[in-house]
This record gives sequence, structure tokens and C-alpha cells, in this order.
Amino acid sequence: MFRRGRRLRENEKIRSLVRETNISKRDLIFPIFVVEGENIKKEISSLAGNYHWSIDRLPEVIEEVKEKEIGGIILFGIPSSKDLCGSEAYNDNGVIQRAIKKIREIDKDIYIITDVCMCEYTSHGHCGIVEGSEVNNDKTLEYLGKIALSHAKAGANMVAPSDMMDGRVGYIRNILDENGYYKVAIMSYSAKYCSAFYGPFREAANSAPQFGDRRGYQMDPANRREALVEVEEDINEGADIVMIKPALSYLDIVRDVRERVNIPICVYNVSGEFAMIKSAAKNGLIDEKRVTMEALISMKRAGADMIITYHALEVSKWLEEE
Ligand code: PBG
Repeated sequence: MFRRGRRLRENEKIRSLVRETNISKRDLIFPIFVVEGENIKKEISSLAGNYHWSIDRLPEVIEEVKEKEIGGIILFGIPSSKDLCGSEAYNDNGVIQRAIKKIREIDKDIYIITDVCMCEYTSHGHCGIVEGSEVNNDKTLEYLGKIALSHAKAGANMVAPSDMMDGRVGYIRNILDENGYYKVAIMSYSAKYCSAFYGPFREAANSAPQFGDRRGYQMDPANRREALVEVEEDINEGADIVMIKPALSYLDIVRDVRERVNIPICVYNVSGEFAMIKSAAKNGLIDEKRVTMEALISMKRAGADMIITYHALEVSKWLEEE
């Protein structure tokens, strides 16, 4: 006697009855890059099918997100001027703050998440206030607080600090609460590794560090237990959702976190992961749809509840075709 596992694989009816994990368009978060200027919809060469949008053209992409019923959006801003302390990041009239207001005008329900970081706004490209050759943690917190507050004021539902400074979740939570924004949630990039998979994003956001690297604040890819320490700390400081980033090379971390914590987990299917699939598909080496769906299902199987992905619009279309 042996077990006939194939009985449960015989046709799509039974396969879907026994399927353990599913992807829904409502699990997906779509990144949107907003630039200064007018009438701009410019494809980002490193992220095929993704665009730089000026605020006046945002309605086009927001309509698409609504129509496709994607779970939410995460906004990244590219200011026209940068300085040492990233002042455009907390300018109440900055590119992101105006973008949020515009999106709110178009749709009052769309779930808006904002990336809270300084690297797109600082002239040196680091994620905080630089002193000597390093980023000063505690000074940076004050700026992150101002940035998060300005996003909340503009109408964001959730802020997502991606800077990897210590203590920022608690700091931001306090500022939001003190100002009455207790309903604004925090999704913390808790285990954010210092990864070469961010390469295409840095081109898209023009945020590569001008000297050194981010190893002094982002995590060492060799460390597994440390991710649990970071996640636990962020939960204690008040994170509503924890994030692991990148996704594909870090699925062991997603599983570890899933087994330890009960709050929702997000994974960021980052730019390099997306670009690898796009370019292999373009060269006829792989089937883009099948490889993408397999990659996304592996993230959910590892334990993620939601996924930030540049593929969100296409995935939603593929799911409808099924
Ligand atoms: C900002 C930030 C980065 C990404 C998201 N937020 C860049 C970085 O840390 O260098 C990367 C996203 C991606 O690669 O898709 N700090």
C-alpha cells in the first residue's frame, strides 16, 4: 500500500479545494512614485510598467487602483530640491503632502500608506541626519517625527518608517498621539536588510547614498535571530504591522516571525526582485505571469499577510483572467 497523493491533484476543482494558500488582489499594496512638475507620466526605466507621476496626473493611476480593487497604495516622493536635513520631506506643502491631499480628493476611502524616510530628500542620500561619517540616530528621530506628522495631517491612513533608526516607532507613535492622530497606523520596516536588491529603486527614487553605504543602520543579511529582536522591539514600541524586506531571499525570516508574533506581517517584494523577473521574461527565459504568481504565493506561504509589489496592477489583471 502507498498513498495516492495524485488523487487530490487530478483536476482544478479538487486542486482548488485543497489549496492551502491563495493570493487576492486585496492582499497587494502598489507603490506609486510622485514627482514635482506638471503633466508627467514617465516610465521608470529600471521598473518596467511603473511610472513617475506628477500630482495632476495621479487620478489616472488612482482610478486604476480603485477599479482593480488593490488593497492599498504606498507613496514615495521625489522632491525637486534636496538639502542636508531633507526639509522637503516634512514640508506641509511638499510633493507627498500635496499628493496625499489630491488622492483624498479623488477618493476618500483609498488606503494610503506613506514611506517615512529621508533618503529621497537629503543631498547626501542617507536615511537621516549625517554627522561626520555617520547618521545620528537620535537627531534623525526628531525629523522622522515631523515627517510622519505631516503625512498624517495631509490624510495618510498609515505611515511606514523605512529608515531603520532605533526607537523611531515609539517616537512616531508619541508624536501622532500627542497631535490627535491616534487612528493613523504604523507599519514598521522592522527587519530591513542592507540589500543589493534595492538597486533599481534607488534609480527610480534617486536616493543612492553619495558616500558610504547603509550598513551602519540596515541589517546584515547574514542575521536571522536579530530580525526577531527588531520585530519584538517595534511591537513593544507600538507597531501595528511589521514588515520584512526584501522578500524572496528572506522567506526564512518571514516564517520565523510568523511563528513568533500574532500581528500582521507585510513583505516588500523589492525592486531588484521585480526587475529580475521582468528582464528574464523580456528575454524569453521565463513565463512572467507564472513566475510572478509562484514568487508571490511563496511569500504568503512563508507567512506574509500582505505584499508590497510593483506587479500589483498586473497581478490583479491576471487574477481576473482566471
Ligand atoms: C527608503 C526605501 C528604500 C526602499 C523602500 N524605501 C530604499 C533603500 O533603503 O535604499 C527600497 C524599495 C525597493 O527596492 O523596491 N529608505
